[in-house]
Amino acid sequence: METISVDARILTALRGSNRGVSGASLSRELGLTRAAVWARIEEMRKLGYDIEASPHHGYKLLRCPPVLYADDMMSRLVGNKVIGREIKVYRETSSTNDIVDRIAGTGGKEGLVVFADKQHAGRGRMGRTWVSPPGKGLWFSLLLRPELRTSAATQITIAAAASLARAIHSTTGLQVDIKWPNDLLAKDKKLAGILTEIHADIDLISYMVVGIGINLNLGTEDIPESLKQKVTSIALETGEKVDPMDIACSCLQELDRDYQRVCSGLFPEISQEWERQCKTLGRMVSVQAGSRKIEGRAESLDSEGALMVRTEFGLIERVTGGDVQLLKG
Ligand code: BTN
Repeated sequence: METISVDARILTALRGSNRGVSGASLSRELGLTRAAVWARIEEMRKLGYDIEASPHHGYKLLRCPPVLYADDMMSRLVGNKVIGREIKVYRETSSTNDIVDRIAGTGGKEGLVVFADKQHAGRGRMGRTWVSPPGKGLWFSLLLRPELRTSAATQITIAAAASLARAIHSTTGLQVDIKWPNDLLAKDKKLAGILTEIHADIDLISYMVVGIGINLNLGTEDIPESLKQKVTSIALETGEKVDPMDIACSCLQELDRDYQRVCSGLFPEISQEWERQCKTLGRMVSVQAGSRKIEGRAESLDSEGALMVRTEFGLIERVTGGDVQLLKG
């Protein structure tokens, strides 16, 4: 991790001790005066961190607020190698993909993650709008610079879907299914989506912006009438509100782990895990790929993450993108 701030270091130290950490040892570790440590603790309290100060035990972290705080996330992601090296949290933006794209274009480093509490122009695949109201979901984008051919970019989307499914399941207990390549479903309704945008130099990826939207606390009133049968949220499925920090950190840990695996050539391992959670394989599908419509049984993934569909004539079609609909039968 690169830019670890004072707050992140204080939070790391407090998390590392159940008994509390003395002001003297924090000031020694951080190279700050005790007054400066106190001032940072006061600032964090204003953000909603419940930090107890006692003469015997020093400072003790009792509770964290249910909001995203970049420094705190970085303090919880010290084991990550790439994703989350730098984290920015915006109150509102057009689309986090746009912010990351702009930073990438001016030499931004891979691993940057940008979150926004609200997006006023959030977008999904196929030019769709992505509803992103404040306090209701995780809307964020990653900047990646994998050394991959553009044809292998689907590996990243597949890996991201597998990571998110694991993170959501482990933090909420919810059973999450994947629909190729980038939809996460709960009981056949959409819970999360991934919008991957690629910039390439000839055939090599220069950078990728992986935009992720996870519906955490959307209520039925937040979902447009036309989408009510198709969209859900973790809170609607589990009946419980979700702490955005817990799930964000878990997602970034899992994404980092799988990104390392893709970069080390271990995509086949991920693809096997993905297949176990995938709703698409074995099903009859209809894929709209540009102006082409392909119908058939989804059989497998190939080594680059493309979907292999056997059509009614017994031919195998290789699908690298498009909108997949699960058909009955
Ligand atoms: C889809 O399923 O169509 C993809 C949805 C992706 C939504 C996320 S929210 C964060 C990022 N910013 C955007 O404008 N879109 C992605």
